[in-house]
Amino acid sequence: MRLSIVTTLTALLSCVTARPTLTSSLQQVTNFGSNPTGTQMYVYVPTNRVAKPPIIVAIHYCTGTAQAYFSGSPYAQLADQYGFIVIYPSSPYSGTCWDVSSKSALTHNGGGDSNAIANMVTYALSQYNGDATKVFVTGSSSGAMMTNVMAATYPELFAAATAYSGVPAGCFYSSSNQVDAWNSTCAQGDSIATSQLWASIAESMYSGYTGARPRFQVYHGSIDTTLYPENYNETVKQWTGVFGYNSQSPQKVEANFPQSGYTTDIWGVTTQNPLGTVQGVYAINVGHTVPINGTQDMMWFGLGPYASDA
Ligand SMILES: *[C@@H]1O[C@H](CO)[C@@H](O)[C@H](O)[C@H]1NC(C)=O
Ligand SMILES: *[C@@H]1O[C@H](CO)[C@@H](O)[C@H](O)[C@H]1NC(C)=O
Ligand SMILES: *[C@@H]1O[C@H](CO)[C@@H](O)[C@H](O)[C@H]1NC(C)=O
Repeated sequence: MRLSIVTTLTALLSCVTARPTLTSSLQQVTNFGSNPTGTQMYVYVPTNRVAKPPIIVAIHYCTGTAQAYFSGSPYAQLADQYGFIVIYPSSPYSGTCWDVSSKSALTHNGGGDSNAIANMVTYALSQYNGDATKVFVTGSSSGAMMTNVMAATYPELFAAATAYSGVPAGCFYSSSNQVDAWNSTCAQGDSIATSQLWASIAESMYSGYTGARPRFQVYHGSIDTTLYPENYNETVKQWTGVFGYNSQSPQKVEANFPQSGYTTDIWGVTTQNPLGTVQGVYAINVGHTVPINGTQDMMWFGLGPYASDA
């Protein structure tokens, strides 16, 4: 099962060939706080970081590493352009998937990988004078699953999230409380629930929390055979449910956006929030590797040319 991720995701790396030399390099941080699972923290701090830098947490796929996602995704180059910081967590497990199955991973301050990643954010905010109102999380595949889990377990930390080909938070749950478990039922698109149930699963990961939650964007390919396309609808149901929207009736549907063959569904559009609160981007005839769209991510996060205070 995991081997298929190896083959599909090496394609991600080949997307990025020649790119300009970066102004800085990837650095490991070892003293970022409590870290019972041994998750590693790497950070990219561009030479020209802005005074109060936004932070993007960019989470790798199974078989990936912080280093691989650093080289294979557009965020470091975008950090050079716009002065934000990128945190690249690296999985401690053999096979380097993320733990999105154990009780501790699926609980706010539960001591799992999600807790370690949250501690990296807190550390970076203080160490680099980061902007706590502009912290974002994104990832591919297992990293996208973790993006869903981070949004559910630490809603107070993030302003927005983008998940490339993941599953809803809690979908990889292990009934035997196994750490880093694979869940075939979910992967194969057989974990189907109501929007209300998915929302309550996400909400139960930080029970009692009533504050703001990150705007959530979901990308998924229609011919994904690793994490079946049913996971697109289920993830959309989860986040529309959390925000109280009807998953079946998006406020806006943009055909062939952001590119030909993709359809973008948008919920929660307001005058102040023209991009909406939940976006689903379904990529027809795309498999497990939906290429990261750096331009779209900057727009969704409100960074660079799209910054409200630029
Ligand atoms: C897989 O996840 C589903 C929820 O998506 C859960 O109901 C099921 O018990 C999990 N399977 C195992 C073997 O833990
Ligand atoms: C997702 O939901 C839409 C609307 O309910 C439905 O038309 C579509 O077939 C579903 N897609 C998948 C992959 O289940
Ligand atoms: C990214 O989105 C832009 C629109 O913002 C589109 O023009 C471009 O083709 C997309 N690129 C990729 C690699 O998906």
